[in-house]
Amino acid sequence: MSGPAPASTTARRALQRCDELAAISSMPGGVERVHLSPEHARANAVAAGWMAQAGLATWQDQAGNQWGRLEGREPGLPSLVLGSHLDTVSDAGRYDGVLGVVSAIEVAHRLRERADELPFALEVVAFSDEEGTRFATALMGSRAVAGQWDQDWWERADADGVTVREAALAFGLDPARVGEAARRPADLAGYLELHIEQGPQLESAGRALGVVTSIAGARRFTGHVRGEARHAGGTPYPRRRDALVAAADVVLAVERLAVELGGIATVGRLQAFPGGVNVVPGLVEFSLDVRAERDADRDDLVERVRAHGEAVSRARGTTFELVETHSAPGVACDGLLSASIAEGIAATGDADPVRLWSRAGHDAMAMAAITPVAMLFVRCEDGISHAPGEDVTLGDVARGIDAFEAAVHDVARRRR
Ligand code: GLV
Ligand code: MN
Ligand code: MN
Repeated sequence: MSGPAPASTTARRALQRCDELAAISSMPGGVERVHLSPEHARANAVAAGWMAQAGLATWQDQAGNQWGRLEGREPGLPSLVLGSHLDTVSDAGRYDGVLGVVSAIEVAHRLRERADELPFALEVVAFSDEEGTRFATALMGSRAVAGQWDQDWWERADADGVTVREAALAFGLDPARVGEAARRPADLAGYLELHIEQGPQLESAGRALGVVTSIAGARRFTGHVRGEARHAGGTPYPRRRDALVAAADVVLAVERLAVELGGIATVGRLQAFPGGVNVVPGLVEFSLDVRAERDADRDDLVERVRAHGEAVSRARGTTFELVETHSAPGVACDGLLSASIAEGIAATGDADPVRLWSRAGHDAMAMAAITPVAMLFVRCEDGISHAPGEDVTLGDVARGIDAFEAAVHDVARRRR
């Protein structure tokens, strides 16, 4: 690992911008910015202002993604796109997605004086929905760009019953024009994303930056265990069909099976109904998120969880159901673009960067359907993410932006 990088002015500004975006939140005392919300609109407007300051021509597309573009050595060239997302989970940290967007703007800012030498246009994108927090399906913004908008999404409702269609209209989008967000592969030269690692591997290895080899594709489900709600005092055990006890058995099996099979599976939300202190739970609804380095292993894990849930339900007189709400295939990062990321990291002093696969999902997965993609990870404190404790150092961010810029130069060198 190289010595500490001097903290650059651009890194300081990038971190200030992360703080500024964190203040655009629907959650008092915390960070939450979800797809098609008023906070999403404000964050896009703020990011558009920064893009304009960096010399980019800006527009918001019909899926709510915010774009900026710097022409290359001639107008209309295919673009190298740098980006990430501005939406967040609930009670989020301030760097997931956001650091990638503000770093991309800094790279564009640095390159603008020399853009007329670039053999591609440079675009920056702030995607609208990577997390899926509001509508329980992820990557809606980048999937629209990849031409993979699913018409069934329009009728999906959030927790308050507001559908995607209603939210899009309130946001000022025209649902009939969502297809206009799709980009043609011929107009793209590739997609590069800088993102915090969201895990502890770089920190353990003592490295600031890493090259992502592939991105695991998550499958997400809403699960139901149905039993019978009855009197908590009056119902003897042999007569109970307790949905929560059955669900608890499934939750423990999710962890055990994931460890056994080398995958990662999480029940992040679980609710028992009717929720009375003196009522045997008759229904449990829960979420399930399943990942693995290889899609086949992930799918195997899903089937093992399903088989366990059905077996538990047979034994306890309940029923078990998993309904898929999101599925993304795992994606391999492009060899050539990843070599440019490695060159970029080498330019910051780490000649043999760590290579790692991403356990977290990213917009790059959706973009891979239309253009080659590569990713640069930045170390985060204690591997914490999707929580308010998310943190990065100024030195690592400075090094990350330097590496990102050097990677763009390397892509340009290879395309000349
Ligand atoms: C996105 O952050 C994910 O859940 O992987
Ligand atoms: Mn993210
Ligand atoms: Mn995230």
